[in-house]
Amino acid sequence: MARYGVCLLAFILLFAVAPCPSSSSASAQQHTLGAGSSQSVEDHDRPFLTSPQGTFSCGFQDAGENAFSFSIWYTDAAEKTAIWTANPGAPVNGRGSRITFRRDGSLALDDFNGTTVWDSQTSGKGLSVSLLDSGNLVIVSDPLSSGGSPAVWQSFDWPTDTLVPSQQLTKHTKLVSGYFGLYYDNDNVLRLHYDDPEISSIYWPDPNPNISPFQDGRTIYNSSRTGVLDDDGVFLSSDKLRVDAADLGPGVKRRLTIDPDGNVRIYSLDASTGAWTVTWAAMAQPCSAHGLCGQNAICEYQPSLRCSCAPGYEMVNHRDWRKGCTPLFTAVTNCSPAEQRVKFVEVPHSDFYGNDLGYNQSVTFEYCKKICLDMCSCAAFSYRLDGGGTCYPKGVLLNGYTSSAFDGVIYLKVPFDFDASAPAVTARSTEGLACDPNVSVTVQGSQAALFGSSRTGNGTKWTYLFAFAGVLGVLDLVFIVTGCWFLSSSRQSMPSSLALKAAGYRMVMGQFRRFTYRELKHATGNFKEELGRGGSGVVYRGVLDGGKVVAVKKLTNVARGDEEFWAEMTVIGRINHINLVRIWGFCSQGKHKLLVYEYVDNESLDRHLFNTDRTLPWRERFRIALGTARGLAYLHHECLEWVIHCDVKPENILLTREFDAKIADFGLAKLSKRDGGRDSLELSHMRGTTGYMAPEWALNVPINAKVDVYSYGIVLLEMVMGRRVSDQTTADGERLEMPQIAQVLRQVVATGNVVPLVDGRLQGQFNPRQALEMVRISLSCVEERSKRPTMDDIAKVLTACDDEDEHPAYRS
Ligand SMILES: *[C@@H]1O[C@H](CO)[C@@H](O)[C@H](O)[C@H]1NC(C)=O
Ligand SMILES: *[C@@H]1O[C@H](CO)[C@@H](O)[C@H](O)[C@H]1NC(C)=O
Ligand SMILES: *[C@@H]1O[C@H](CO)[C@@H](O)[C@H](O)[C@H]1NC(C)=O
Ligand SMILES: *[C@@H]1O[C@H](CO)[C@@H](O)[C@H](O)[C@H]1NC(C)=O
Ligand SMILES: *[C@@H]1O[C@H](CO)[C@@H](O)[C@H](O)[C@H]1NC(C)=O
Ligand SMILES: *[C@@H]1O[C@H](CO)[C@@H](O)[C@H](O)[C@H]1NC(C)=O
Repeated sequence: MARYGVCLLAFILLFAVAPCPSSSSASAQQHTLGAGSSQSVEDHDRPFLTSPQGTFSCGFQDAGENAFSFSIWYTDAAEKTAIWTANPGAPVNGRGSRITFRRDGSLALDDFNGTTVWDSQTSGKGLSVSLLDSGNLVIVSDPLSSGGSPAVWQSFDWPTDTLVPSQQLTKHTKLVSGYFGLYYDNDNVLRLHYDDPEISSIYWPDPNPNISPFQDGRTIYNSSRTGVLDDDGVFLSSDKLRVDAADLGPGVKRRLTIDPDGNVRIYSLDASTGAWTVTWAAMAQPCSAHGLCGQNAICEYQPSLRCSCAPGYEMVNHRDWRKGCTPLFTAVTNCSPAEQRVKFVEVPHSDFYGNDLGYNQSVTFEYCKKICLDMCSCAAFSYRLDGGGTCYPKGVLLNGYTSSAFDGVIYLKVPFDFDASAPAVTARSTEGLACDPNVSVTVQGSQAALFGSSRTGNGTKWTYLFAFAGVLGVLDLVFIVTGCWFLSSSRQSMPSSLALKAAGYRMVMGQFRRFTYRELKHATGNFKEELGRGGSGVVYRGVLDGGKVVAVKKLTNVARGDEEFWAEMTVIGRINHINLVRIWGFCSQGKHKLLVYEYVDNESLDRHLFNTDRTLPWRERFRIALGTARGLAYLHHECLEWVIHCDVKPENILLTREFDAKIADFGLAKLSKRDGGRDSLELSHMRGTTGYMAPEWALNVPINAKVDVYSYGIVLLEMVMGRRVSDQTTADGERLEMPQIAQVLRQVVATGNVVPLVDGRLQGQFNPRQALEMVRISLSCVEERSKRPTMDDIAKVLTACDDEDEHPAYRS
């Protein structure tokens, strides 16, 4: 009883002290202020207010050179990432500006010369301003019940680009970043829009008019139009959209933000480093957002976001991609007889979304071409082989994108005598993208990088750099943090098929499913026919009920519980690229962990390359090298979660009947047992295979995608030589170490004489230009890590020397 009393006393004391932590010391941070309080921008080092538990702070935040905004941020976030900003796009001077809770009851932000840049438009006696632990900045009438009595004003009602847990998105609010917005449409569906003064279009959920919101799992019947992110990381919307953060569960600080690239992401805060990690994104392909590149331009993501003009077009304003591109030729006005006057330039893996002049199914390519020829207003047509040939003539070329995962081809109409192969047609984003001092865009992304503002002395010349350069930076950041997440997160995650649905992966996920152990036992005839075995498990041939032939891999060494395995699989299951082995599903029942893969016909590369009975012809080798590079580039740069393979070797490169490369076993690095703690990026050192492992595996450094680049370099060299690199010996029979091999390669590259290195079995039947390029790439891949190229660079170089396809973009 006495003990109980002591506890109770302690309890009471705690509560008695808790509400007023600031009273104890003068310098402690305030969470409530009364009328007359103010802070000048010179004091930006300390927050204006801090929430009672210290979760959030508000105050002046750096927004460029000598420029500040008044914002709220998570106290632990390293970069003070704003979750709300009073004056987005209108920063105040770093000298003389002031935030004041005025005696008339309004909170106001004044610039150096006394101009009020923003105010809360409230008034009344006895009001106070508080920052709550939810991140809500409120103005209330009774300071003692700031949690209880309704707020006269609250920042939650005026979101900028971000929602924090418990903050509702309503029919009256929207999240905005530049011309991109997330809000409830008139039909009650939450959508992403691109709205500039001239063009408005929806790009999420799937804007295809043939797909109703219902197919995306949404409903139009609930008119309450509310959405809220909860403390577990679930965003639930009244239109039935449900998305789950990958690190589902309580105790994590999160935010949902519309980024300057038009994508919406959920970020989770790593409390120890203050860094943000992407745990969900609305779109896997950054270029799916509309409006990134303007008319007649094409958005490409490899390895960072880029715009380029379509062949035959040039940039309108060298500083602003949103102005798009203009034709280098004069438009074909006299349409008949059309065939004599125009031709078509092919741009593979590309499309311009929307603005179709109609659409016809089950027509031949020639017919589709004729439709476009006959239509004067047709600027291009897209032809896809799905459903027996679908034809989309295009009037205006907007929302262009290129993605290696996209199978369609766009054919641009140009004058017959137009030389599309002339080089002047593209203006790469690297030049002239940066900034137009005269473009004044309201960039609400809050990332300081997006603002290029300068003050000349007392002058007030504000200049905003358009966000594109910033977008690039943000995206790179996003991908870096996602990579870390994918590799390092081992938080408990829960399954959610709904989340996947919401992520817009309908097509990709369509056939991905969970199997029971019994089903797979049946499909493989009780694991009868073994196809191969490797470090991660044994592979069996199986036939599913529908007759589909699959490869079933029984995983050994999986240290994951059911739910965690589920979560990892849903990530791996989303990955879809022609050069990656497709995963149809998985089984996770207790100790049984199995993966169901697409069956690839023609064995792995090692069996063809190192086989003494047959010789893999050069053409195929090059094709495999290119396919493998594209597959890895996709893993590294294009998919939502940046995936590092960690075990690239010929055994993991499978070949189809046509000798297309398909990489196997990606994503497994995450499933294997690890020896490090959960914060370490090191995977189990059992990953990787001797002879293909980058030297940094042996060092105690975080692993990044460059380990795959190294391994790829070795495989590439093996394709040139037709022998294992690790088997190379000197004349005396001593094993050649990598530095010596690199020395040989350096010589080959310097002299240009590649013949002695090339597989003798080819008997000179090879393309020396390609071989030399492959050696050059190999050499750069085995350099010290910072000097290695990215897989994307490699894919580009190889594509450029693909003789079957010299200039894919300009073939007419
Ligand atoms: C509409 O959505 C709200 C918020 O998600 C929910 O509480 C309500 O039950 C829904 N109404 C119907 C009829 O489904
Ligand atoms: C193609 O589609 C348009 C409308 O979308 C239609 O008017 C036309 O007749 C169709 N042509 C053929 C050959 O199907
Ligand atoms: C910016 O505006 C100034 C004056 O308004 C003009 O002289 C200058 O040419 C413009 N610069 C660009 C790059 O458009
Ligand atoms: C800024 O203003 C001060 C006085 O207010 C003046 O002395 C100074 O020269 C000004 N600086 C510039 C660059 O105009
Ligand atoms: C203060 O500076 C702003 C921004 O340059 C300007 O728009 C405003 O007119 C100035 N106000 C006064 C009172 O000079
Ligand atoms: C596999 O490749 C070999 C050439 O090495 C070819 O002869 C054979 O037909 C291929 N097998 C299949 C199943 O395509």
